[in-house]
Amino acid sequence: MKILISSRSDQALKTLESLIAGGGYQEIEGILMMNGARDPLSVVDYRPDVLVMHASDHLVEELQSLAARQKRDRPAIIVVGDQLPADATRYAMRAGARDFIREQDDAELVESLRRLSSELYADQQPAGGKTIAVLNAKGGSGGTFIATNLAHLSATMGGDTAIVDMDFQFAPVPHYFDLTPKRGLLEALANSGELDGTAIGAYAVKHESGLRIFAPIPDAQVAVDFNLGDRMVQVLDVLKHRYERTIIDLPRHLDENSAQLLKSVDEVLLVMQQSLLAVHDAVRLKTVLVNELEIPEERITVIVNRYTKNSTLDTDDIASALDDEDLVLIPNQYKLVAESLDMGEPVVEQAPTSAVSKALVGLQGRVLGQQPQENRSFLAKTVMRLRG
Ligand SMILES: Nc1ncnc2c1ncn2[C@@H]1O[C@H](COP(=O)(O)OP(=O)(O)OP(=O)(O)O)[C@@H](O)[C@H]1O
Ligand SMILES: [Mg+2]
Repeated sequence: MKILISSRSDQALKTLESLIAGGGYQEIEGILMMNGARDPLSVVDYRPDVLVMHASDHLVEELQSLAARQKRDRPAIIVVGDQLPADATRYAMRAGARDFIREQDDAELVESLRRLSSELYADQQPAGGKTIAVLNAKGGSGGTFIATNLAHLSATMGGDTAIVDMDFQFAPVPHYFDLTPKRGLLEALANSGELDGTAIGAYAVKHESGLRIFAPIPDAQVAVDFNLGDRMVQVLDVLKHRYERTIIDLPRHLDENSAQLLKSVDEVLLVMQQSLLAVHDAVRLKTVLVNELEIPEERITVIVNRYTKNSTLDTDDIASALDDEDLVLIPNQYKLVAESLDMGEPVVEQAPTSAVSKALVGLQGRVLGQQPQENRSFLAKTVMRLRG
């Protein structure tokens, strides 16, 4: 934290400097304000994080000069002094003063700086990107189809995106993009302790949309003698600080590892089909997610995949069984989806105006809230047209 101290008294300046240095702060500079000087910041060529102002008869003018600056150019201000001139408080507020400390109230000043420093630190911690797990209520419901297409849309529309394939047995995700990873996810997990935002990139295969795919290499000879769940959470933490969005495609059954992952993501997409059996399984799974894994209901989005209007089971019945009025419907387009899978080409690229593509764009808007960037690509423009 860079601290600038301004005073018109040499003695007061020295006292404040040594007091603040005693608090363990290292980047401190004291400036002695001379007669004509008004703005303490004009004396230095950087923007300090905190300005400690020792009050004098010129305090109001100094605060006025500071208040005239743009908000983003002003540091947090602490005013130190016993007798503040009339109007000083008003201008201090305008200039963004955070605290008034009585002279020689050393403990109070140290405490005030500590508070500002922890606020500043909290602001600088990256919040991390959004993480979404996709889970089938029942095997074969289309979880991987939705995870891959959502991730592809996110990347195409300009978001730095990764997809993680947690199906170590079949590793379906790379097939959806007609790609083969050179280094596997298991190897990344084996080295999870040493990974950072740069090193992790080496384990991904890149799709032309910009999407990074982290997937196991089937039959890879990596002995799994560690707790996968713990390591996965560690890798997820690296991924979310590296990518704006990380989408995780989970395998068909819920085990301890996926349970651990589900607890640490921002949002869960629960994919089901339009049948009584699927409703039964989805209700059970949602209960487990909410009651056992303690995932708040508002973080769970239910997707009815392969939806048709002609089904005997309508969406109102599904909505009431799942106690969810906000179902996402993805239409059934068997031929198109099968072709897209066979060719390893995301469906929005293959048939951008199809009903299924439109529904996927809607899903993307709902869970990622992402607007297409102008001039990004043919696809982004198509998406904009679809949205009208
Ligand atoms: N909206 C859709 N319309 C038509 N067919 C679909 C649709 N979504 C998925 N399918 C088909 O369903 C099949 C299974 O989908 P997917 O590849 O996503 O596997 P999955 O449900 O993730 O399976 P697993 O449970 O093994 O993880 C695929 O063959 C795909 O063609
Ligand atoms: Mg799957």
